Amino acid sequence: PPGAGKGTQGRRLAEELDIPACIIGEILRTAVKDETRLGKLAKQYMESGRLVPDDVVIDLIERRISLAQASCGFLLDGFPRNVVQAKALTGLLAKHGINVNRVVFLEVPEAAVVERLSGRLSCRACGFGFHRHYSPPRTQGRCDQCGGELYQRDDDREEVIAERLAVYRQQTQPMLEYYRDLPTFRQVDGDGDLETVYKRLKRIVAD
Ligand code: AP5
Repeated sequence: PPGAGKGTQGRRLAEELDIPACIIGEILRTAVKDETRLGKLAKQYMESGRLVPDDVVIDLIERRISLAQASCGFLLDGFPRNVVQAKALTGLLAKHGINVNRVVFLEVPEAAVVERLSGRLSCRACGFGFHRHYSPPRTQGRCDQCGGELYQRDDDREEVIAERLAVYRQQTQPMLEYYRDLPTFRQVDGDGDLETVYKRLKRIVAD
């Protein structure tokens, strides 16, 4: 779900495994900031909490996968988000000869999602996420990682959070059935403090 902790945990895990993290939301936000053609198109969808059209994100992922192929593995965050994207990903991975080690579903109750997203602070420069209460920055308003300015994402406003959750229920949740029976699928309880959830995640990646 939105705000489950995918970005926070995924970045840390990728760093520890020494593999690149391909964070689709981050790539789209950079495109919006740089006002590229992709960014101009994605902006309207992201601001209102809807998914960017499938063909646009599938094309984006294919280009990233071709690059990632040269490295020894990668972590994919935020893709796929519906059955169409899931099927496209299966095809792309087969085409590029890439095996999946783990498909991880980070499960978090909606009440916790709302609390996490409404208190989130994100770095304008590097995208790193903090939380006003659960993981505040050492210096108010500044990123611990790069010193960049912290801000509240446009889509972390109450009404947009509600729309993102509705999109999640309608489009992403049904996709779970596509993965649930695969031997690579793991469900991780994402409710708990950051350290506890990270330990759970590491355990399932290592087993
Ligand atoms: P994206 O950026 O991926 O948004 P999201 O899925 O809604 O996820 P978030 O980034 O909001 O949350 P997260 O799970 O990474 O949580 P985080 O670690 O930051 O996508 C944005 C938009 O791009 C979409 O709405 C859509 O428009 C578009 N898009 C993206 N992918 C797409 C696709 N495949 N197809 C089409 N469109 C796409 O944590 C949240 C907060 O909680 C932080 O403050 C963090 O510090 C805190 N926190 C995390 N874990 C814990 C914990 N265990 N305890 C306490 N606090 C915690």
